[in-house]
Order: sequence, then C-alpha cells, then structure tokens
Amino acid sequence: MNPETDLVGRFISVEGIDGAGKTTHVNALQDRWQHQGRDLVRTREPGGTDLAEALRELVLHQSMDALTETLLVFAARRDHLRQVIEPALARGAWVLCDRFTDATFAYQGAGRGFDLGVLSTLETWVQNGRQPDLTLIFDVDPAVAAQRLSAARAPDRFESQDHAFFSRVRQGYMDRMVQSPERFAVVDASRSPDEVGAQVQSIFEQRGWW
Ligand code: TYD
Repeated sequence: MNPETDLVGRFISVEGIDGAGKTTHVNALQDRWQHQGRDLVRTREPGGTDLAEALRELVLHQSMDALTETLLVFAARRDHLRQVIEPALARGAWVLCDRFTDATFAYQGAGRGFDLGVLSTLETWVQNGRQPDLTLIFDVDPAVAAQRLSAARAPDRFESQDHAFFSRVRQGYMDRMVQSPERFAVVDASRSPDEVGAQVQSIFEQRGWW
C-alpha cells in the first residue's frame, strides 16, 4: 500500500451489460483490498441502503414506464449517496460500487430511449457533481453475454430484454465514455476469467491502486 494514497477516498464503479461477468471480478477486488486492510465499502445500484434496496426490488420486478424507472433509480441513488457513498469517501474509504449513473444513461437512456437531457438534469440535481474516480466497463458482445445469462437464474426485467436492447446499452456505455474518457477503463470481457482478471489488475496497477 502507498501511504500517500491511503487516506484518500476513491470511488470506483463497475459497469457492463447483463452477463458481462463483472461480479466475479468485483468479488476478487473486494477480497484483495479487504485482505490488505483497506477501509472498503462494497455496494451496488440500484441499492446500498434499506430504502434503495426496496426501490431496486420494484425497478427489477414491477412493470413501469421509463420515466418512473428513471425517477426510482435516481431516488435510490440520492439516498445511497447521502447515507453511504459520501460519508465513506469523507472518511477516506474506498467505495467499490456495482453500477452507478452510467448504467442509467446506458439502460434507461440508450436502452429504453429515455431523454438524455432529462437524465443529465437529474444527474446534476442528485449528485452535486459527484462522479466515480474510475469506472471499469466490462465490454462484451451481447450474444456472448446472453449465453452466459441463460445458465443463470430466472431473468429480471432487464435480463429478459432482447439482443437489440443490449446492443443499444453497450453503445450507450461507449457514448458515455467518449464524453469523459479519462474516467473510464474498458475491459475485454469476452476473454477467459483469468485473462479478464489480469486486465483488471493492470488497470489498477497503472494508477498505483493495486
Ligand atoms: P445487476 O447489477 O446486473 O445485478 P445482478 O448481477 O444482481 O443481476 O442488476 C441491476 C440491473 O439494473 C441491471 O440489469 C441494470 C439495471 N440498472 C438500470 O437499468 N439503471 C440503473 O441506473 C442501474 C444502476 C441499474
């Protein structure tokens, strides 16, 4: 560990289409950093607080239109930021968050076709300028992701979407990346778990965060 960076909070989000395989690698990062004795907060969106987890349940399983969905994910985000993320960063913890606002731009914006300008306004209201310091995108062809998902549990409202939806979501992530490339690192998630793990390691090593 580097003593100079130890007291600096870091906000890392992890993104990708459903079936990209990010969870395995987020688990590995969590294990590594906790083993090192870091003050680490592992969390997720929608979710991370009692209120936000209740909203997650609705968003993933109840039928609703894209505006309702968007308002609920931002409401969940607001509570999550105030109760978990901001206090953790203020004390110098590292926050490892499974999805954040890039998912809203990708899923509700690109996937559902919801107005990107409205998303930007909500982002400004809810986040007060807070953005992840680093966002990993696990990038994979939707056909490969679909194969991985088919072996998994019963699909939720997003997992059950078709190939065209996930192609738009994937493009939505790329569009976000073009707007602030310094914040993002792309992982080729079509490779084997070991190879993907090595890519993740190299991204953190380059920043001295490994
Ligand atoms: P996911 O993170 O894939 O969790 P799990 O691995 O447990 O299924 O599931 C969250 C789903 O929520 C995912 O399909 C993307 C969707 N989502 C949105 O549509 N908008 C958002 O803003 C966020 C954070 C997630």
